[in-house]
Amino acid sequence: MIADIVYVNGSFVKKEDAKVSVFDHGFIYGDGAFEGLQIVNGHVFQLAAHLDRLEDSVHYLGFSMPMTQAELQELILETARRNKIDNGYVRPIITRGSGPLGIRNMSELGKPTVVIMCQFEKIEARRAKWDKGITAQVVSVRRIPAASMDTRAKTCNYINNILAYLEAQAAGAETAIMLDAEGNVAEAYSSNLFVVKDGKVVTPSLGSILNGVTRRLLLDLCHQNNLPATEGRLSTYDLVTADEVFECGTMAEVRPLVTINGRTIGGGKPGPITKQLHGLLRDMMESGKHGEPIGLAA
Ligand SMILES: Cc1ncc(COP(=O)(O)O)c(C=O)c1O
Repeated sequence: MIADIVYVNGSFVKKEDAKVSVFDHGFIYGDGAFEGLQIVNGHVFQLAAHLDRLEDSVHYLGFSMPMTQAELQELILETARRNKIDNGYVRPIITRGSGPLGIRNMSELGKPTVVIMCQFEKIEARRAKWDKGITAQVVSVRRIPAASMDTRAKTCNYINNILAYLEAQAAGAETAIMLDAEGNVAEAYSSNLFVVKDGKVVTPSLGSILNGVTRRLLLDLCHQNNLPATEGRLSTYDLVTADEVFECGTMAEVRPLVTINGRTIGGGKPGPITKQLHGLLRDMMESGKHGEPIGLAA
């Protein structure tokens, strides 16, 4: 459920009144960047890492953040606070701003547009997927190569991912796995991927994937818990012959894939290392030590 209060360009407004210009280049060209963060027990998990990535994305797009990281952090916390949201999702979006049509007129745009919105999320629906696992399809839509648009930038242009999702949905699968231009496994349409084979954990290297915050945490958790983990190159064969495969992301957390292209993975049930890693991640999330407190009154 979308939360009632939205931050738009300097004001906190009711969601019905939350509007940006039709001349905004975010609307016209998808010219902006965003982040998705999880709020867990009154804390915004990994806020600093997401703010760093947002700043890098905006810099990559070639415009300047309209405020400091500390100011944006406070606005994110304040939006969550005003919505009294102790568990859910918060999305800051920054676009290049609005003004005359035409890419060549970018220098005439006003200040970047800043929007922050929140959503209440119930854990039950997500828990059912963690417990049961989901189905996946390797789709024909390839992940955009970094040479065309670096996938480490989290931009407002998600057409590549949307096309992948639509193809998986049409095939009856719940998530889409995208290959890179060379045919190696890249990532799922809105999450990163891991496989486990003979006790070894592997995730695709950076190159044609988002540098996921959750992916990085899981690699660190593997190293801290003596689980051998590497970044490398994976094929569709490696996916379908793995003992365990899971996708990971801010809201997905660690979501087991139990069939891929109709092939059963690891007996069709979430595997032990997948569950162990999710448990370790959940402990981190619930500890409150890895995020910023919103400061909700008890
Ligand atoms: C394409 C894509 N890959 C991976 C991820 C996972 O990244 P994170 O763990 O930072 O949420 C996302 C999350 O939105 C995504 O959109």
